[in-house]
Amino acid sequence: MQKSPFIKLKYNLMQKGKFITIDGVEGAGKSTQIDFICQYLTDKGINVVLTREPGGTEVGEKIRTLLLSNSTGKMHADTELMLMFAARNEHIQNKIIPTLNQGDWILSDRFTDASYAYQGGGRGLDIARIAQLEQWVLRSFAPDMTLLLDIPVDIGMRRVESRGEKDRIEQESLDFFNRVRNSYIARSEQYPERIKLIDASQNVENISNEIQKILKTL
Ligand code: TMP
Repeated sequence: MQKSPFIKLKYNLMQKGKFITIDGVEGAGKSTQIDFICQYLTDKGINVVLTREPGGTEVGEKIRTLLLSNSTGKMHADTELMLMFAARNEHIQNKIIPTLNQGDWILSDRFTDASYAYQGGGRGLDIARIAQLEQWVLRSFAPDMTLLLDIPVDIGMRRVESRGEKDRIEQESLDFFNRVRNSYIARSEQYPERIKLIDASQNVENISNEIQKILKTL
């Protein structure tokens, strides 16, 4: 097959820094563990840049508002998927790759696994189509390590409800979030080297200890 001259197959990645992502269903306690990871890496003398998806860049944050705001209203699932990847393209090209090439580490609050879990599992989009977008936007790029915080959906959603108003995606049903959770678990079984499944129903300290052990392997 003739290669398109417009699609470079690889990023120009010297990758001196490491790329870590953290993901999971709503209310799994990502924020607390993100604080822990940033502190832990900083104490080790590592410069870590915290970012998030959708978002992380000026354009990405605008797309995030569109995706999560209740005032956006109904959106076709394919549109949602493409907007996630549009924000991701901006994120990779303008923030993640330049930061890694500088030698700093990146910690991203969510990444591509969330598209497989939410748009694939939750919305029921064809995984093969998501994989096509992944190939288009990520080429062969992937996180070095993904920490997947797993918690039963009803516990997670109770936490979300106690925080106040739900965003456009948080309004979805428990069935939706159970499909999201199952997709995440299935991905961790498919990519056990990269995606580390962590039981997030344990107490905060145990979770942090587990994360610390995983980070040491990097
Ligand atoms: P959060 O950062 O507060 O978790 O909100 C991000 C929301 O966006 C969350 O509901 C998960 C959702 N999301 C997707 O549906 N697909 C994606 O690819 C990403 C990155 C997030």
